[in-house]
Amino acid sequence: MKAMIIGCGGVASVAVHKCCQNSKVFRELVIASRTKSKCDVLADKLKDSKTKIYTEQVDADRLDELVALINKHKPQIVMHLALPYQNLTIMEACLRTKTHYLDTANYEHPDTAKFEYKEQWAYHDRYKQAGIMALLGSGFDPGVTSVFAAYAQKHHFDEIHEIDILDCNGGDHGYPFATNFNPEINIREVSAKGRYWENGKWIETEPMAIKREYDFEGVGKKDMYLLYHEELESLAKYIKGVKRIRFFMTFGQSYLTHLKCLENVGMTSITPIKFQGQEIIPLQFLKAVLPDPSSLGPRTKGKTNIGCIFKGIKDGKPKTYYLYNICDHQECYQEVGSQAVSYTTGVPAMIGAMLILKGIWKGEGVFNMEQLDPDPFMDALNKWGLPWKENFDPVLVD
Ligand SMILES: NC(=O)c1ccc[n+]([C@@H]2O[C@H](COP(=O)([O-])OP(=O)(O)OC[C@H]3O[C@@H](n4cnc5c(N)ncnc54)[C@H](OP(=O)(O)O)[C@@H]3O)[C@@H](O)[C@H]2O)c1
Repeated sequence: MKAMIIGCGGVASVAVHKCCQNSKVFRELVIASRTKSKCDVLADKLKDSKTKIYTEQVDADRLDELVALINKHKPQIVMHLALPYQNLTIMEACLRTKTHYLDTANYEHPDTAKFEYKEQWAYHDRYKQAGIMALLGSGFDPGVTSVFAAYAQKHHFDEIHEIDILDCNGGDHGYPFATNFNPEINIREVSAKGRYWENGKWIETEPMAIKREYDFEGVGKKDMYLLYHEELESLAKYIKGVKRIRFFMTFGQSYLTHLKCLENVGMTSITPIKFQGQEIIPLQFLKAVLPDPSSLGPRTKGKTNIGCIFKGIKDGKPKTYYLYNICDHQECYQEVGSQAVSYTTGVPAMIGAMLILKGIWKGEGVFNMEQLDPDPFMDALNKWGLPWKENFDPVLVD
């Protein structure tokens, strides 16, 4: 079977390695990105793999280029691992060429730091008519967190009332300030207002206004902050009866102090400014001076711990349940040459595509991860490098 990966950054690099490890399914792979030389370097690293790799240049903001490229290679699935600005053009190209679609982050408009599923869900009927499947958010969060929720719902609860998603990165790269994935997307996410779901409505908070401390297995005690995150929207829709869903992410003090300072001087703004006769976007300029996330791999030590704590009812009794994965930055680097943040996203991207290609996850239309049977995905996580753990008596977040 043949897959096409669009983008050749941190996440795509892991997904390409993992597809090559799984060459029985991924017999052929097209890597297409804005900068073709990056695809060529990656293909060269993996030239001994049984997967046959082709490389291409594409501007995924251009529908005509995408359609021509998909028609040229005729992959069964397009895995969109570029940036969230390209979701709609790539979804449209998949629709026109009747090709399955997968991504790891929901659509973001380049001019407004706001993400929601509305525009992508609007493709449902057209994908259904075309007989193809779009799988949205097949990374870790979103992605595995939604699979965890579906698994908890299927095997452990009659009703889930509360979900707390805890995303801890205990990795240290030694820089005073750097982001572990695309800096522009990362900074837009953390400088936006916080939001969580409670009793049928969204509660908005100032950025980083809600702080908790949690003792993470494999990492230790960390401060974490409530953020809005896209799976809150799909979980609120698909986990019936859920009353509260929150998302927390850990940040170190140095990261927050630098971010505040950059914000205060206007460097995180996405409003264009004139600079020496040219129009530039401060946040994109900042991205250009920050370390490239893909260069952090060899320097990053420590672990990530990402998971969900569920509270609800089973057989008439209250129940709590914590599902999580611990991933070691250095082990990831040794295996695929990337740190754990890219690894924890690239592995689920490969698994989602594998389940579609093998016909294990089937559907016509647009799907979020929690709508599908979690069991084959949970088995694949154990097999492909992200084993999960469970705790039936976790410390809860107040
Ligand atoms: N769900 C999760 O758990 C999770 C976690 C982390 C990240 N993500 C998502 O994963 C995606 C990739 O993140 P990353 O850290 O790998 O980012 P990255 O390292 O910045 O890589 C992005 C890649 O996309 C390419 N690209 C950008 N615009 C393009 C265009 N118009 N046409 C073709 N290619 C284009 C870039 O090309 P150049 O090489 O030319 O710059 C680069 O190769 C993002 O959408 C991010 O939000 C999801």
